[in-house]
Amino acid sequence: MKIGIAEQKLSMTQLNLFPFLPKPNRVANKLDWNDRAFHDWYRFVLSFPPHLVREYIGKFGLRAGQKILDPFCGTGTTLVEAKRLGIESIGFEGNPMAHFASHVKVDWNVTPHALIEHATLVAESALGVLEAHGANPLRILPDEAFKLLLKDSISPLPLHKSLVLLAQLRSLKDDRFLRHELLALAKTLVFSASNLHFGPEVGVTCSKQKDAPVIEGWLAEVKTIANDVRPVENTMTPQALVHLADSRQPGHFLQPNSIDAVFTSPPYPNEKDYTRTTRLESVVLGFINNKVELRAFKKGLVRSNTRNVYKEDDDDGWVSNHEEIQSLAKAIEKRRIELGKTSGFERLYSKVTRLYFGGMAYHLAELRPFLRPGACLGYVVGDQASYLQIMIRTGRLLADIAQSLGYELVGIDLFRTRLATATRQQMREEVVVLRWPGGTKTIPWGQRRGLPAERTHRYSLG
Ligand SMILES: C[S@@+](CC[C@H](N)C(=O)[O-])C[C@H]1O[C@@H](n2cnc3c(N)ncnc32)[C@H](O)[C@@H]1O
Repeated sequence: MKIGIAEQKLSMTQLNLFPFLPKPNRVANKLDWNDRAFHDWYRFVLSFPPHLVREYIGKFGLRAGQKILDPFCGTGTTLVEAKRLGIESIGFEGNPMAHFASHVKVDWNVTPHALIEHATLVAESALGVLEAHGANPLRILPDEAFKLLLKDSISPLPLHKSLVLLAQLRSLKDDRFLRHELLALAKTLVFSASNLHFGPEVGVTCSKQKDAPVIEGWLAEVKTIANDVRPVENTMTPQALVHLADSRQPGHFLQPNSIDAVFTSPPYPNEKDYTRTTRLESVVLGFINNKVELRAFKKGLVRSNTRNVYKEDDDDGWVSNHEEIQSLAKAIEKRRIELGKTSGFERLYSKVTRLYFGGMAYHLAELRPFLRPGACLGYVVGDQASYLQIMIRTGRLLADIAQSLGYELVGIDLFRTRLATATRQQMREEVVVLRWPGGTKTIPWGQRRGLPAERTHRYSLG
């Protein structure tokens, strides 16, 4: 399968001839009806929409036989869309629940009618257990696991029903279907059985739903999966690999000079904790069982919120000579002191800003040996002003860091704007478009900035 927009990669000049026209928010945020297949099996609220990936795959001139990487693949929008367009892909994701979702969403190798048959059997069996025993005894999570949940994120009865279903999935387990069935349960848990809402941060609703048709909702989700897969049954589709991995250390999973394009939305310093967004399903499905495991996964993520900053963190070393980032961090700290904010979290705001940009510099530096010369890259990030109202121009700073590491800046396209509730300002969400020219060229930050010596030896372009 080929995409029709371009046969060849676009040159820098050609790329500039196609400025990206921003869409109105209501269009830019929405999952089009025609894009629901595969994408809607489970997705982050407000992850970038498939049409954005499609537009940039077209703009980058990617074609069958080439490979796209999403180093922060979340729930897999880039990978799913690439697969739909016939392009091979690789994803990295540090959150085990999101990794699992991506991994399943690109697995279309399941026989639809057999999946429905098996799921129907499981549903009947779960309904049988519920009919025979009701909620007696009420199934609960182990204490350590339960403590990880946001308070009241799910009421006791829907949780009980979910655990009964999970037990039936285990006892009637069929490896051909289990992963798809579990992903359907993850979606049901969050979007039908829980008291969670996303706005875009995860929160708990005031009115709790005491009960929910968990089994019926789950079976409907499984049927959706089967229906999506039916048209591609017995079709050869391109490979999509997803690794539970840290994008700051891509070397374990990539061949040198193998990546033709990158399209991704990394975290940005907006206090969003992706392990919190996915906490309910991560805990119920057993991806995270206790604090120690949670902490270990958090450490594998770029620091973007004050809940995952650790004493031993040192990614800030990558930007210790970047004057603008240092001044920004100082301004955040100054504002904190002026406002008399003294909590532990508030004290970490300036540190997390340095760690964030340092982590992204680390990732961009380490990625270089694996990019083919001429590879195009798109990083979707948003400006942020929540840190005590000091504006962080994420896209512009990221572009500056990338240029310092030898990438060429093609442009910064406006994707959408969103209203910051605290300031009522419209914040820009942008696509930073880069090109990797090849070679080992590095340009120091501004006139006299350079990567700290202890970091430069970490990569080698051979
Ligand atoms: C904005 S979300 C990506 C959403 C994605 N575009 C989608 O379609 O769902 C950013 C993701 O980056 C992941 N992440 C953060 N730091 C990471 C790291 N160092 N390595 C791999 N993944 C990371 C987070 O867990 C989160 O899922």
